[in-house]
Amino acid sequence: MSAQVINGKELVQSVREHFRLEVEELAKHQVQPGLAVVLVGNDPASAVYVRNKAKACETAGIYSEVHRLPEDTGEEELLALVERLNGDKKINGILVQLPLPRHINEDKIIDTIHPDKDVDCFHPINVGNLMIGKPGFLPCTPAGVIEVLKRMKVEIAGKHAVVVGRSNIVGKPMAMLLLREHATVTVCHSRTPDMEQITSQADILVAAVGRPQMIKAKHLKPGAIVIDVGINRLPDGKLVGDVDFEDVLETAGMITPVPGCVGPMTITMLLANTIVSARRAAG
Ligand code: GUN
Repeated sequence: MSAQVINGKELVQSVREHFRLEVEELAKHQVQPGLAVVLVGNDPASAVYVRNKAKACETAGIYSEVHRLPEDTGEEELLALVERLNGDKKINGILVQLPLPRHINEDKIIDTIHPDKDVDCFHPINVGNLMIGKPGFLPCTPAGVIEVLKRMKVEIAGKHAVVVGRSNIVGKPMAMLLLREHATVTVCHSRTPDMEQITSQADILVAAVGRPQMIKAKHLKPGAIVIDVGINRLPDGKLVGDVDFEDVLETAGMITPVPGCVGPMTITMLLANTIVSARRAAG
């Protein structure tokens, strides 16, 4: 058996078209969603992500502004910018691209973003609301994964979903969203002994560890749905996921390509959160 490789481009395009039409509808009521993206420093990968986010906003008809600040920007200066954006009526979503330079306390910055504009769903209030099943916003990458599963008509309820990775951005909120969809969820991480024994029970496997090509065919149950959140650059410049794509191709039932599926779907969910926020602000 050979896995179905999900056509990420087509999938993302159709979801984005849906949101573009929503923005068009809002425009009839003189509402234009607005997103502010803040990038501090010179991380090349972050610069690409930020550019892609701004481009996606433009295509969808969402107002966006990118604040590019130098690496040596002080914490106070960044806090002041966030405060200013909190009070800016044009702006419905604020995204501070992570990681930040080491001299800036990330938690302090996230805590300062107004929860109503926290379209990343990183603020402790939004994380807490997600935990108790009353999400203010859905975390973008995990929401993108759920969107992919639903669009591909993968049944989630009652299935065993295994998440590999326990980061605050992906692993932990991913487990929460899968639980909301009534999956039985297991989270594996670097201290999990005999991980293969657990991952090979997964009907749905979400790989979010940030280790290139770590998941091999031996980790999978035949026919498993494999969602690869990883995006890693090899020394030769090639982008690969956390899953060894070639190795699992004969074992998985379905697999997302890297790049070109979960990444752009994450950005699409960011647009969705910005639209939700604009609608709430408009009453
Ligand atoms: N860095 C890597 N992923 C993300 C994300 O989803 N949001 C922000 N703000 N920074 C990131």
